[in-house]
Amino acid sequence: MTTVLVTGANRGIGLEFVKQYAKDGAKVIACAREPARADALKALAGKQGQIEIHALDTSDFKACAALGKQLASEAIDILINNAGYYGPKRQSADEMDFEGWAYTLAVNTMGPLAVAQAFRENLKRGTEKKLVTITSGMASTAETEGSYLAYRSSKAAVNNVMRNVAIGWRGEGIISVVLSPGWVRTDMGGPSASLSPEESVSGMRKVIVGLTLADSGKFLTWQGQERPW
Ligand SMILES: NC(=O)c1ccc[n+]([C@@H]2O[C@H](COP(=O)([O-])OP(=O)(O)OC[C@H]3O[C@@H](n4cnc5c(N)ncnc54)[C@H](OP(=O)(O)O)[C@@H]3O)[C@@H](O)[C@H]2O)c1
Repeated sequence: MTTVLVTGANRGIGLEFVKQYAKDGAKVIACAREPARADALKALAGKQGQIEIHALDTSDFKACAALGKQLASEAIDILINNAGYYGPKRQSADEMDFEGWAYTLAVNTMGPLAVAQAFRENLKRGTEKKLVTITSGMASTAETEGSYLAYRSSKAAVNNVMRNVAIGWRGEGIISVVLSPGWVRTDMGGPSASLSPEESVSGMRKVIVGLTLADSGKFLTWQGQERPW
């Protein structure tokens, strides 16, 4: 059975990943910051026995390591670093909430590495060995449009981190990619976004199925095209 770990699994894109993988018969380790408030996820787990819910705040790096130890016996095929934060209200070149920026970096840049390190051994034991980090088109430095400096820089930085992880862990057979989900109708994307979570996640799952070690280190869209860094 395929085992998938998803962070930020209680709503939006993360919840949709849980839904689709569980429907396909995978075992899903669904991590949510506050399981007590994760009603939609708990309802899904009530219907699908193979969803396990764990509390995880990905900005708490010690908690990431502790969960890795607690789940040491699991082989994980696909790890989806999905948890993300859009950043503080003030994040322009003219006005920056620096504390908010630091927290954005903790969630979007450092958390994904803390999670990857915590579950590295689990991934090595999995058959697929796929480390997928959900980034954003807004991470692209080549195509940046200004604005949202905290969010853009945190996603550009996680792209860099995961490309380095791809190089460092290639010998272990771990495939590390960063995937942009498109503009998706979630709390973050808002109601005018062009894609439903179903469309975005089905597209990303197709890309994930096709990943090989030759793809490791790539920045890909939800449809599998390479994006400029
Ligand atoms: N929607 C889009 O158009 C879009 C576009 C590009 C990239 N993305 C990326 O796609 C991913 C999912 O976004 P979304 O649209 O589903 O956003 P969302 O609806 O705002 O959901 C964000 C998820 O991340 C979780 N999260 C935030 N901070 C966390 C932390 N410190 N520890 C654990 N979980 C945390 C949230 O948990 P709580 O409920 O506890 O807050 C929630 O489950 C993010 O990485 C985002 O940057 C989204």
